[in-house]
Amino acid sequence: MTFQVRRAAVAALLLGVSAGAVQAEMAAPTAPPEPPKFEAQTEPVYVNRSDIFEFKALPAYSEPAWVTAFVDAGKLPPVAERLPKEPLVYKTANMPDGPGVYGDVMRHVIGGRPEGWNFWAGQSYGWGGIDIGLVECLTRTGPLFTVNSEDLQPLPNLAKSWEWSEDGKTLTVKLIEGAKWSDGDPFDTEDIEFYWNDVIMDENVTPLMGASPATYNNATYATVDPYTFTLTFAEPFPEQVLYAMAYGNFCPGPSHVLKPKHPKHGGESYEAFLNAFPSDYMNFPTMGAWVVVEHRPDDIVVKRRNPYYWKVDETGQQLPYLDEMHFRLSTWGDRDVQAVAGTGDFSNLEQPENYVESLKKAADPASPARLAFGPRSIGYQLFFNQSANGWGEPDARAQAVRELNRNLDFRKAVTYALDRQRLGDSLVKGPFTAPYAGGLLTSTSFYDPASTVFYPFDVASAKEALAAAGLTDTDGNGVVNLASGEDLTVTLLVNSDYATDGNLAEGVVAMMADVGIKVTLNSLTGKDFDNARDAGAWDWLVLRNNQEYVSAVQGTANLAPIGPMTAVWHRANGAGEMDLQPYEQQLVDAIKAFIGTRDPAARIEAMKTWQKVFTENVTAAGLTAYPGALIINKRFANIPAGAPIFMYNWAEDNIIRERVYVPADQQIGAELHPQTLPGAPGSPGPITAN
Ligand code: GLA
Repeated sequence: MTFQVRRAAVAALLLGVSAGAVQAEMAAPTAPPEPPKFEAQTEPVYVNRSDIFEFKALPAYSEPAWVTAFVDAGKLPPVAERLPKEPLVYKTANMPDGPGVYGDVMRHVIGGRPEGWNFWAGQSYGWGGIDIGLVECLTRTGPLFTVNSEDLQPLPNLAKSWEWSEDGKTLTVKLIEGAKWSDGDPFDTEDIEFYWNDVIMDENVTPLMGASPATYNNATYATVDPYTFTLTFAEPFPEQVLYAMAYGNFCPGPSHVLKPKHPKHGGESYEAFLNAFPSDYMNFPTMGAWVVVEHRPDDIVVKRRNPYYWKVDETGQQLPYLDEMHFRLSTWGDRDVQAVAGTGDFSNLEQPENYVESLKKAADPASPARLAFGPRSIGYQLFFNQSANGWGEPDARAQAVRELNRNLDFRKAVTYALDRQRLGDSLVKGPFTAPYAGGLLTSTSFYDPASTVFYPFDVASAKEALAAAGLTDTDGNGVVNLASGEDLTVTLLVNSDYATDGNLAEGVVAMMADVGIKVTLNSLTGKDFDNARDAGAWDWLVLRNNQEYVSAVQGTANLAPIGPMTAVWHRANGAGEMDLQPYEQQLVDAIKAFIGTRDPAARIEAMKTWQKVFTENVTAAGLTAYPGALIINKRFANIPAGAPIFMYNWAEDNIIRERVYVPADQQIGAELHPQTLPGAPGSPGPITAN
């Protein structure tokens, strides 16, 4: 008897079925099931990028009258001097409700907590749009949901324009000229240099969201002048890099406050650099429309308008229109509840457990909030830690799991064991959730069903695949055993801040138990979860998708281990070594091909290849995908039609908050610090004109 056959026979005995049945092939993979139809409730108005804004000087500028009082008191230069030479001017024709009026506040509710303000050393601000309103980036992608496909390219932002050299190997980027940080310090290539040399190129520093040289195609940086820099590449025209300059990545920090704390410039240590701007440090300089002026732990973060904000409307009014922003520090579930109740103003309805109740409330014509569903852009996958190189310093048990994670039969067993329909239905019944094969979501134009391999739910196939991976229940206790005789136990890392993540993880645990895989949950909150994930301290991981799986063009570098820290499932060990499997190398090649060309046909082909390799090899097991809804209080004007809660970015970016306003007669008088502006960096709070 060959080993193969003997193992099947043993398995057959243990499973109590005939050898014939066990030797049967595993169920053949299929095309992914058609997701139930779910029409987005509103369609975007499609325009070209140049229809949204332009950079130009206007004859005159204005500001709220109470800000002029600061100018009159000698506390602020006149508005025209605070603005750049050519500010970013939003065009009236593209504003759903036209130029706005000043005042009022947007009351966000979030589940995260600010860790500190050193985004560039990896500190989280607590998400939910706090950071999106503070860090501005070279390009911008959130509003691209409204851009015509023929004109689809990142929007300029802090980078006003860019140009490729004839050979396509050098990208020259022009920054907006004369823009200032919220404390009046000039924004220029000093800030870019600091970001590049002391954040990206410094191996001791990892920015939040993990940008690294690979994110920028391993470019070489050079400063040309205070407003111009170049990136040079090995291959011609890696236009994709412009997407990597949008939110999440190329969002430079204020070098005038960060640099003195950095060890290369006299700072004490990397640890001290990380902690130099704790969450009680107020008025941290920003290029964003609002500045944090108050933080009461577990209660609220308050932001006031940035008097140096560099964007205006066509009538010359300096933006933002909203004078204040609130971030109630609560739970993500409470965000939905408060938004429909009208005590909060904004929510990305993304936890299906809340859909029925929220829909019911919003359907009442007297409801204070509008609720509109968008495309099926929220997806969850189960990731397998596939570094066998020591990343995260696994013990013997965890290392044995890593070896299994690298075995295709094992990953197949997991995917066959997942009843995705039941998983989705356990969150919410109805046409929302759809079984998800993994890889690209159906809502991206790069999605190709023919390149998507789906392993159907089939317990017998799961057991067959386990046996093929050498895992059978040798001691008859219902759990498969490792060669050592021990029960196989796997830990599953999950973010406990979201009910949905927890429910999906529990579903996975139950379904794995049915095939003899014992899974124990490691539920961690916010930053502990992020830290465990990024440190590699996990066997399996339930994760809500980032942008790369819904847009393909945003966050693309993370679709494969193209660098030591790009893919969530496979990172380098302490010595920087990777141990890519052949199929992972194919993923790397496909992503490199995608990033390295601007030929549309070649890009489509590269993504097809990636999707095929990713799904066929069960790189991650898709769980469920569903649409989310934007809930926003009805008093806000200039909310663009069809804004998805998540696509190139989250809705907090997509709706262009600096352009959102509340008509005077609908303002609610909820400002906590009316008529104040941010104080000096590090000073305790906002200041008054007199
Ligand atoms: C969290 C929330 C999202 C969105 C983002 C913004 O992840 O769950 O809905 O608000 O923050 O960063």
